[in-house]
Amino acid sequence: MSEPTTFTEGEFYEGHFDSRAYAKNFYSCPSGQADEKNFLTFVLRCLSRVFSAGKQSLSIESLGLNVLLFRDYFGTNVCFKGEHKGKLLIDVGSGPSIHSVLSACDHYDEIVLSDFASNNRREIEKWLKNQEGSLDWKPVLQYVCELDGKIPSKLEATLKQRVKKVLKCDVRLENPFDPHTLEPADCVITSLCLEAACKDIQTYCRALHGLTKLLGPGGLLVMIGVLGESFYKVDEQLFSCLRLSQDNIKEVLSGLGLSIHEFTILPAADRQNNAVSDFEAIFHLVARKPSE
Ligand SMILES: C[S@@+](CC[C@H](N)C(=O)[O-])C[C@H]1O[C@@H](n2cnc3c(N)ncnc32)[C@H](O)[C@@H]1O
Repeated sequence: MSEPTTFTEGEFYEGHFDSRAYAKNFYSCPSGQADEKNFLTFVLRCLSRVFSAGKQSLSIESLGLNVLLFRDYFGTNVCFKGEHKGKLLIDVGSGPSIHSVLSACDHYDEIVLSDFASNNRREIEKWLKNQEGSLDWKPVLQYVCELDGKIPSKLEATLKQRVKKVLKCDVRLENPFDPHTLEPADCVITSLCLEAACKDIQTYCRALHGLTKLLGPGGLLVMIGVLGESFYKVDEQLFSCLRLSQDNIKEVLSGLGLSIHEFTILPAADRQNNAVSDFEAIFHLVARKPSE
């Protein structure tokens, strides 16, 4: 293992991030990495609740988890089921993974996946092209389909047909897709990327600004992240994480003019016995860019 002495930014990922080990450790089954307890099921259920128009009648309380739900600024109980749709969905910092767009993909005509590291983009391309030795997303797909009332083979085909590009991105740039200019997106999803990519809160703030600029007026930002995490491991390789609080994130989003509709937090279940990361909580948020 090489011990990072400085914050592990994108360039470190290019040389040291083992995409296959990451997928195997964290995404080989819907329950995710054992030390991280309910992490992945929480994420998949939150995403399902935001996008699914299917049979699921899940309320946040029925997750059976110790969840703090932040109601929207008007104090109303938010219900998004099946409400979000549009032309373009961009997932920023996908890693080698497709889990974050599974519940959304039926509702957007075109999907762009992206990552800084070429080995991550290559793994996604392999899966899209059904190449031999590609990552196995079946267990996660099956779980999401159970939540959303969908058929796994159909959802897989829809996703593969709708992903139009897998692009290099760098969230530290004003336009993360430079030199490409993407058309304004109806939805941007990002999961666990910004806190891994940004070495300080100023960089995080600029990166979120860059993400909001990808959205068209009224566009939706869906973000999954961790609070209070300083590191995570892929096998024995350590990666840095920017320690964030809920207030940090709310301040940045409000400063960018986004309205936060939902901010759900799941405190870590057994932090002392987690050998692969030290997060205090997982969060899921939904925010909207103002309509012009
Ligand atoms: C913890 S992984 C998250 C991957 C995936 N979204 C997930 O939820 O599992 C962090 C990802 O951020 C990517 N990353 C790191 N620096 C980046 C940058 N400057 N721009 C874009 N992505 C970056 C890494 O390559 C890695 O795939």
